[in-house]
Amino acid sequence: MKFFIDTANFEEIKEAHSWGILSGVTTNPSLVAKENISFHDRLKEITALVPGSVSAEVISLDAEGMIKEGRELAAIAPNITVKLPMTAEGLKACSVFSAEGIKTNVTLIFSANQALMAARAGATYVSPFIGRLDDIGQDGLALIETIADIFTIHNIDTEIIAASIRSPQQITNGALAGAHISTVPFKVLQQLFSHPLTEKGIDQFLKDWEARDNK
Ligand code: E4P
Repeated sequence: MKFFIDTANFEEIKEAHSWGILSGVTTNPSLVAKENISFHDRLKEITALVPGSVSAEVISLDAEGMIKEGRELAAIAPNITVKLPMTAEGLKACSVFSAEGIKTNVTLIFSANQALMAARAGATYVSPFIGRLDDIGQDGLALIETIADIFTIHNIDTEIIAASIRSPQQITNGALAGAHISTVPFKVLQQLFSHPLTEKGIDQFLKDWEARDNK
């Protein structure tokens, strides 16, 4: 399973990229709204830094508008993935982009049938939102597992992005459930480093080094 970062904050992207773990970036309108930036300029910065897929979401609700916006976004850099909502209009746009060779990420997936339809419309990625399902008492992880099973049984090569990640445990479980990618907020990525025995071990190694006889 690969790691994407779920943010539009360039400092966070730069830092996570420097760790050597990052295969891509996802943004959404809410994440972009938190930054005081031109969306297009930020996408230029991100795509120049991260060679992998960079998801940029359209705002239009009709297919025609989505296609216009998506083409403009895709023209920014070859590694832009156009992010489309899971609606009939979104799938219309998805199939047009698929025929044009433009990568797509169909977002706001909350059921296996939505994922299957998006895949059949040619989506490069589908993004089931684990955290938001858990928030309403449903099982986000079970959804990842079901989609992964269906895609395997039917030889579908659309990749599953486990999205709406809130905790390190969801990343491990998502990987086991068959997600190809987890898109993770910076704060949760930082938590992945942390283990009390790692920190204790470093302290002990330093103490032993300082206390050695042959200084
Ligand atoms: C995915 O691409 C979305 O940007 C994201 O994971 C949404 O997460 P949230 O439920 O924390 O807003």
